Amino acid sequence: MDTEVVSNTAPVLSPAPQMVEVEKLPGQNNDNLTKGKLLWSTSCNKCHEAYNPNTRSMAEWRPILKDMMPKAQLSGEESQHLLAFFNHYAKK
Ligand code: HEC
Repeated sequence: MDTEVVSNTAPVLSPAPQMVEVEKLPGQNNDNLTKGKLLWSTSCNKCHEAYNPNTRSMAEWRPILKDMMPKAQLSGEESQHLLAFFNHYAKK
């Protein structure tokens, strides 16, 4: 994991988290994405602002999410939804 200093001032999010739309894509599990988005917007903003998935690549997100999902007390199933959401919106 990188050694970025964490503060209460979250990085400027672009697009704003609320604007991230879960669009329908062929062959994609939209149910997963919609549930993942909901979990992110309700569980990942309890202790700090919700970090936009597009601020990091999936390789950067995996170790962070491994730490943060237990903090957010997500069940195994919820974790899968959240991972699907991050996987879709992470920096490519
Ligand atoms: C119970 C409180 C809590 C919840 C819930 C929580 N976090 Fe965190 N998060 C922290 C704390 C404390 C830090 C800073 C210290 C650390 O890295 O452990 C942090 C740091 C972070 C960082 C910065 C890490 C870095 O190294 O740059 C990211 C990104 C992050 N959280 C994402 C999330 C996501 C995504 C979720 C939802 C799954 C989440 N957090 C839920 C407490 C929480």
